[in-house]
Amino acid sequence: MKKNILIFCLLYAVCLAEFCFAQAPTHPDDFLPMDFHQSRREALRAKMPPNSVAVLFSNPVRNRANDVDYMYHQDPNFYYLTGHREPHSVLLIFKDEQRMNGKTFDETIFVRGHDALKELYDGERLGKEGAQEKLEMEVAFVGADFKDYNIDFSKFDKVMFYDFKNDVRDTKEKADLYELIASFKEKINYPDTKELTIEVEPQQNNLDTKTLDSLLSQLRGIKTAEELDLMRKAVNISALGQAEVMKAMRPGMSELEVQGMHEFIYKKYQAEYEGYPSIVGAGHNGCVLHYIENYKPKIEDGELILMDLGAEYHGYTADVTRTIPVNGKFTKEQKIIYDLVYEAQEAAMAICKEGTTFKEIYAATAKVINEGLVELGIYASLEKEDIINPATGRNRYYPHGCTHHIGLDVHDLGEYDTLQAGMVITIEPGIYIPEGSPCDPKWWNIPVRIEDDFLITKDGYELLSDLAPRKAEEIEVLMEEPSPFDAIDLPKLE
Ligand code: GLY
Ligand code: MN
Ligand code: MN
Repeated sequence: MKKNILIFCLLYAVCLAEFCFAQAPTHPDDFLPMDFHQSRREALRAKMPPNSVAVLFSNPVRNRANDVDYMYHQDPNFYYLTGHREPHSVLLIFKDEQRMNGKTFDETIFVRGHDALKELYDGERLGKEGAQEKLEMEVAFVGADFKDYNIDFSKFDKVMFYDFKNDVRDTKEKADLYELIASFKEKINYPDTKELTIEVEPQQNNLDTKTLDSLLSQLRGIKTAEELDLMRKAVNISALGQAEVMKAMRPGMSELEVQGMHEFIYKKYQAEYEGYPSIVGAGHNGCVLHYIENYKPKIEDGELILMDLGAEYHGYTADVTRTIPVNGKFTKEQKIIYDLVYEAQEAAMAICKEGTTFKEIYAATAKVINEGLVELGIYASLEKEDIINPATGRNRYYPHGCTHHIGLDVHDLGEYDTLQAGMVITIEPGIYIPEGSPCDPKWWNIPVRIEDDFLITKDGYELLSDLAPRKAEEIEVLMEEPSPFDAIDLPKLE
């Protein structure tokens, strides 16, 4: 008996110690694993031309005002290939093994060095050792070493990089992106004023600013299983946000308040960012395709509200739009236009599978919309002069494209010829009839976009954003449900 008590006490002490000393995780543990980024570098290397090097820079830090910068966001290509989320870094990927100081290697990275004072304010930096251990880059340096890095770029048949935009500021930071780019330009004799095309003078000019984008488009356009896990998460969070806001919507709310409800849900489910500035436009504002002010203080009874938002989860973004009647019931005209857009989306979904072209997807939606608007007397005929707005050169009421890749960017890198299994795309037809349009005023101020996210499969697609209803009748039913937001009753501020 005594022995049992002793064992019990020991076990209890062990549990207590574990409870006291176990560290709660300080960061999410479902980021892409390092072997994903390693595999992407291998895949890029396999596609690179003989005797070439690819050079990629991190995104610049953007100043907001005085000593405050915008929230940093890594360049998606840089993130895809390294998983590194800090600025002021440069990555070199070599097609063939290189030899330097008795070492062989085929990739190397330059990252920020440690700086105790900066780290006091902004948090820990990886540093050289961190880059070796955490990014699993065997050969790593700090940025200050790049200037004197002894590499002869003229020995390569191709030096591939993205051309520079001249929008990088010199900062107080030593070996910042500005200096890394300046050193690189010096090393390659960058002709600041010349058009860089390898095709023009292959013998004299090995600088190539086109091929890297095309190789990365081939890779990034087809998502791996690990990427799909994150994309599903981003899309589920975004679609859930749409469904919850449908329940919470009331006339009199402000556009900013509606934006806030979506974004609160993103944060609640641990999505770090919005994948693009949130678009929340009621009535006429919904006719502005990328309306991001979201300034209307009181959404009016009887209006439609167009909400185009996407949560970004660990780098991957969704892109989901729903358009709903603020008071829960579509008017007759709103429902007619809504159903036409829905029918257009269904027509595209009917042909959405491997082998269909991006152009065919758009054409399927435009046919339904144009013919429908003629039938309603909104377009006089299917003749070009009745459909094209001469001021914009676009289809007057359906003035945008219908499909794009999503991933690390909302308008993601990818090839835009035929659909292939593993692509993740949007289908997003819309009709926008602003006030003053040349049609019966009963149609004015009706904006409708329905945008969903699809994984292309061999035989068709998987609709990823189905947590948010698309059909008008289903939206009306959901809008009758109570919402957790109903319970929020904040004090008035004078
Ligand atoms: N949210 C931008 C787009 O739909 O393309
Ligand atoms: Mn889109
Ligand atoms: Mn969108």
